[in-house]
Amino acid sequence: MGFNNQGIDYLIENVKRCQYKGNIGINIGKNADTPVEQAADDYVYCLERAYPHASYITVNISSPNTKNLRDLQSGEALTQLLDTIKNRHSQLATEYGFYVPLVLKVAPDLEPLQVDYISQQLLDFEIDGLIATNTTLSRVGVEDLPDGEQAGGLSGRPVSHISTQILQQFSDQLDGKVALIGVGGIDSGAKAVKKIEAGADMVQLYTGLIYRGPGLVQSCIQAIGGYYDAMEL
Ligand SMILES: Cc1cc2nc3c(=O)[nH]c(=O)nc-3n(C[C@H](O)[C@H](O)[C@H](O)COP(=O)(O)O)c2cc1C
Repeated sequence: MGFNNQGIDYLIENVKRCQYKGNIGINIGKNADTPVEQAADDYVYCLERAYPHASYITVNISSPNTKNLRDLQSGEALTQLLDTIKNRHSQLATEYGFYVPLVLKVAPDLEPLQVDYISQQLLDFEIDGLIATNTTLSRVGVEDLPDGEQAGGLSGRPVSHISTQILQQFSDQLDGKVALIGVGGIDSGAKAVKKIEAGADMVQLYTGLIYRGPGLVQSCIQAIGGYYDAMEL
């Protein structure tokens, strides 16, 4: 599998042509055939090209579809990766004279100790935000479906609960010091509100669009607005 796309230069040409005036987050990952020990080179390569064109940049270390990518979520591999990326990021901020926030995207399949470790790394390296979560390796809830055993990351409703749980754990650890973006199985306004209740400052959605169409975005905006209005009463 890997990330099936035509590469960062092609992506940047698309972004340059884009008429959209809102925020554009650019998500970067390593090539499937780059050894994990050299992953930082790929991230820096993409970071340099994306920097002047992005509202924020996401460092994706959590896709289950690129072999060994998730190894970058643990131990010295994460520390070294963040160190290299953050150094280059700081240089780019100086070179360009503007700051583009850096966000880390994690998997839902994390043990509590990993959540603690990643949280500390986010604080140590002053990473601006966290996206919780990517797709899951779990098959809970789909075991009996005809294609339930297929390889790869699972999105949508089956990931909803565990991604919200992981979001909540990060929120407890980070206590508002790092911006949190909740994603995973949002297919209604109520599900979007659940992410906010679990500590998200923002939400993203993808799979829900297939089932609910673009009107889902409006539903989420209304539901989250209603939630904040009720909090103020
Ligand atoms: C077909 C497909 C491709 C995806 N590609 C990426 C990717 O390239 N980078 C990434 O960080 N996440 C990727 N994701 C994960 C989604 O961005 C999202 O984190 C995940 O699907 C959970 O949200 P959802 O349930 O709203 O889809 C992909 C998901 C799907 C279903």
